[in-house]
Amino acid sequence: MNIVNGFSKLTKEQKINWLVETYFKNDQTVVQLLKSYWNSNEELQKLHDEFIENTITNFYLPMGIAPNFVINGKTYTVPMVIEESSVVAAASNASKFWSKRGGFKATVLSTEKIGNVHFMFGGSKQNLVQFIEKLQPVFRSRTSNITRNMEKRGGGILSIVLKDKTAELENYYQLHATFDTKDSMGANFINSCLEEFANVLREEVSNFDLFTTEEKESLQIVMSILSNYVPNCLVRAEVSCKIADLKSKEIENPQEFAEKFVQAVRIAEIETYRAVTHNKGIMNGVDAVVLATGNDFRAIEAGVHAFAAKDGKYTSLSHAEIVGDEFRFWMNLPLALGTVGGLTNLHPMVKFAMKLLEKPKADNLMKIIAVAGLAQNFAAIKSLTTTGIQKGHMKMHLMNILNQFNASADEKVTVLQHFAEKTVSHSAVVDFIEGLRK
Ligand code: MEV
Repeated sequence: MNIVNGFSKLTKEQKINWLVETYFKNDQTVVQLLKSYWNSNEELQKLHDEFIENTITNFYLPMGIAPNFVINGKTYTVPMVIEESSVVAAASNASKFWSKRGGFKATVLSTEKIGNVHFMFGGSKQNLVQFIEKLQPVFRSRTSNITRNMEKRGGGILSIVLKDKTAELENYYQLHATFDTKDSMGANFINSCLEEFANVLREEVSNFDLFTTEEKESLQIVMSILSNYVPNCLVRAEVSCKIADLKSKEIENPQEFAEKFVQAVRIAEIETYRAVTHNKGIMNGVDAVVLATGNDFRAIEAGVHAFAAKDGKYTSLSHAEIVGDEFRFWMNLPLALGTVGGLTNLHPMVKFAMKLLEKPKADNLMKIIAVAGLAQNFAAIKSLTTTGIQKGHMKMHLMNILNQFNASADEKVTVLQHFAEKTVSHSAVVDFIEGLRK
């Protein structure tokens, strides 16, 4: 067992030495590899080193851009950070397609965030209700230091409600608090407020005359934490056009396309196996912009998938319909995002992405990201119901295969020309390269 003590206190070089001695038989090429990913600008490197603990190097992901996103009449070039070869191409394809058909429409439906103090109480519910009622102004006054700035920006605590969960877990209650955190994602703000609410509960319980001694002793705080489930922080993204206007190079028969598209979405609505992959395609677009803008993709993922299962069954996030001669495609997405705080003021590439998007407020970023998701979903379903996904996917993957084989620039040109009109498969590409090299 390679248990190491005090590891975080070692220098970066010491950490790498330990790692390479312990796991790589002191192979110095591993050290070189790790160092080759260090930034030559020491200050910039230090910034990245300090984002997390035990940093040994950087891990690159490509940042691409998808132009021509028309959203509510304004055109955006959207930054995307993702490793999957076909995602940016698909986004660009969909954005261009819809730019010629009126663009995307996006609307923020609500911006409420949620947090809970989870606690146990083994006494009279009526007494507890009165206790929480009495504490309402105290919760506010005790958090005024935390909320002052947020209130100046128009946000703050919206409500603090007692929830009785004892039917599901003995003695379990919550303070269910809602917040408006304006342009910050709000995790720190919410958690600080919640921890103070918990302190108030803990301190005030012994002063509440209606409680018996047993009741006072039974109140126990379990934890205070925001929820990443934000069904009331919702944005809607949509597109629509006359079915006839769907006609394009790839869509020869618009009526047939629209009908098949709607069928594909219906399948995702009723079939969980399909819904998960369908939504994964949406998240290809969402996560790529969430990452580029320095937001927390784990929070977004957790919240979105919980939302997809909100009615008790995991289902499609997006929906489509044909009404008369019109095709409509839309989705509502819960997105708790920040455009201030966190990485947004720190990471140079995040700052760049924000500038590219013309420094959006959080509500505007919600719109952009939801649209990126809908565009990605449109592109995926369009491919799936027409050419199949592998054609575009393998075309984009071709470069990865060529790079695996260290293909020269000339070889790349020859191979790309050869496969311009042919089906790309791993073995076909390998055979062709080997043929070239004979
Ligand atoms: C691949 O990353 C995403 C797709 O599978 C999404 C979908 O099937 O809708 C193409």
